[in-house]
Amino acid sequence: MKKSNSNSIKEKIVVVTGSNSGIGYETAMKLAKEGNKVILACRNPESGENAVKNIGKKTVFMELDVGSIKSIDKFIENFQDRYPRLDILINNAGVMLHPPQKTEDGTEVTFAINYLGYFYLSLKLIPSLIKGINSKIVNVSSISSYHLNGIDWEYFDPQQKLSSLKKKIKIYEHTNLFRLMFSIELDKKLKEMDAPIKSIACHPGVAKSNLGRYSLLAKIAYTIGIGMASAKEGARPIIYAATDSNLKGGEFIGLDTKNQHKGFPKVVEPNPIANNSKTRSMLWKKTTAKCGIDLKNLKSLNLKY
Ligand SMILES: NC(=O)c1ccc[n+]([C@@H]2O[C@H](COP(=O)([O-])OP(=O)(O)OC[C@H]3O[C@@H](n4cnc5c(N)ncnc54)[C@H](OP(=O)(O)O)[C@@H]3O)[C@@H](O)[C@H]2O)c1
Repeated sequence: MKKSNSNSIKEKIVVVTGSNSGIGYETAMKLAKEGNKVILACRNPESGENAVKNIGKKTVFMELDVGSIKSIDKFIENFQDRYPRLDILINNAGVMLHPPQKTEDGTEVTFAINYLGYFYLSLKLIPSLIKGINSKIVNVSSISSYHLNGIDWEYFDPQQKLSSLKKKIKIYEHTNLFRLMFSIELDKKLKEMDAPIKSIACHPGVAKSNLGRYSLLAKIAYTIGIGMASAKEGARPIIYAATDSNLKGGEFIGLDTKNQHKGFPKVVEPNPIANNSKTRSMLWKKTTAKCGIDLKNLKSLNLKY
């Protein structure tokens, strides 16, 4: 395969999870228009193929349910059979205010989709990313990560049924803080390993999309979107995180406005909890115990880079 100029985003191989709708769709559209090979990693084949038809260009649909370990493993096998490397992984798939449910793996659904899927998919794709060009993992988080003053570890792999609105909001906020903390910790660990991959977190502000689908009020709010950004505008920080070659890794890309609801991308300070390395280590330890994988296992693969 022809290698492109190392500073160029052109012709990169990009995976965008949850790219049949909203911000992920707009991100895939923009990156495909710029000439990249974009893999739309979506759980529903019909919506995934529809998105491929609408975006056209060099997009390909590949089935992926980030809430299922089996599906992630199958996706990775298919991906590695078809592509020699991965340049950019964009972890975007997510849910909000989901009704109480356990996944087929027995994990609380929002925790599984919004957080565990990011972690497991990213670590499993490291061998492909190591072969990539200026590789990046982009982790979409949310301004809701700022809402927490501390972590309630009951929301890590919750065993209780999250039926009330308060608990559904709490799990959304926690998973978004976890995504951000994971992104920063992963970057630190990759640097310690001298691995040529950057991990960058970002948030879209508040943007119109199908995110509100599980609650009537949220559905109305996110569809009408009064005062919200468009999904295209919401995709800007993701595209910035994926394409700006000056980013060093470990940053949080937010927006240049006071409330960060709408605006242009810029590097912002995360919730101070995310800057606490002890808390991030604790999250990493708990997650590796839950998933059964760690970067240490990858070291034993003797990856050449
Ligand atoms: N919109 C906002 O204001 C906002 C703010 C902060 C953060 N975010 C984050 O941005 C991301 C994108 O959300 P959005 O606003 O664009 O909402 P959206 O329009 O509902 O898009 C969410 C995408 O994630 C996919 N998805 C959900 N569960 C999945 C699974 N198990 N496996 C694979 N894909 C799955 C959905 O696929 P289906 O269509 O098949 O369900 C859809 O493609 C989310 O992570 C969200 O938390 C959004």
